Amino acid sequence: MTDTGRALAELTFPIETSRLRLRPFTPADVDAVHAYQSLEEVARYQYWEPRSREEVAAEVAKWMEPDGTPEAPLSMVFAVTLKDSGALIGDMVLLFRDWEARQGELGFSFNPAFAGRGYATEAATAVMDLGFGHFGLHRIFGRCDARNDRSWALMQRLGMRREAHFREHARFKGVWDEEFYYAMLAREWADLRRGEA
Ligand SMILES: CC(C)(COP(=O)(O)OP(=O)(O)OC[C@H]1O[C@@H](n2cnc3c(N)ncnc32)[C@H](O)[C@@H]1OP(=O)(O)O)[C@@H](O)C(=O)NCCC(=O)NCCS
Repeated sequence: MTDTGRALAELTFPIETSRLRLRPFTPADVDAVHAYQSLEEVARYQYWEPRSREEVAAEVAKWMEPDGTPEAPLSMVFAVTLKDSGALIGDMVLLFRDWEARQGELGFSFNPAFAGRGYATEAATAVMDLGFGHFGLHRIFGRCDARNDRSWALMQRLGMRREAHFREHARFKGVWDEEFYYAMLAREWADLRRGEA
């Protein structure tokens, strides 16, 4: 079993922040995920088109299963819920990209009905804490379309550094893809969190 697999087995839920609870997905979450994954504005910069309820049900089922094997996991997807109402407002994913070099990748999608209140920042902070703390990652990165200003603004709010701007390096939904890479090292995150305390 990899260290990552051991850390995953030892993870306990829910993960609490001041306003949020992060937990694994259940079949009862399909409608709440469909509420945002069916929207063009949520799908615009993702590798998928707005999803039907059936497609969302298949996706949620995948999120509930171990990705990779329990011994050598590839990712963990968290349902982000509001503490006060229990409403599911989005999903956060932590991908384990290289166990030896301890590289992780962050992903996120939120229901626009809950945008602009710092919930994504709060959830991403919890996942960064978990990635660097519980999973012992050395570096966490995030990627987004350069036009996805809300996505890169979130990564900048987290304190991540823009490390790359790939110019017209691929085709994305019929046009040239411009992609930003953001990243943060464990020691930088520790310094940042110490400064906030
Ligand atoms: C990327 C995404 C999660 C960002 O959502 P968001 O609502 O902009 O982010 P937050 O929830 O952190 O809210 C931040 C906003 O709340 C404000 N805010 C209010 N209270 C806050 C708090 N306590 N902490 C931080 N920000 C706060 C911020 O100032 C910011 O406002 P602004 O947008 O006017 O600058 C969202 O746009 C999304 O899901 N997009 C569709 C899916 C997608 O493209 N995913 C990324 C693929 S790469």
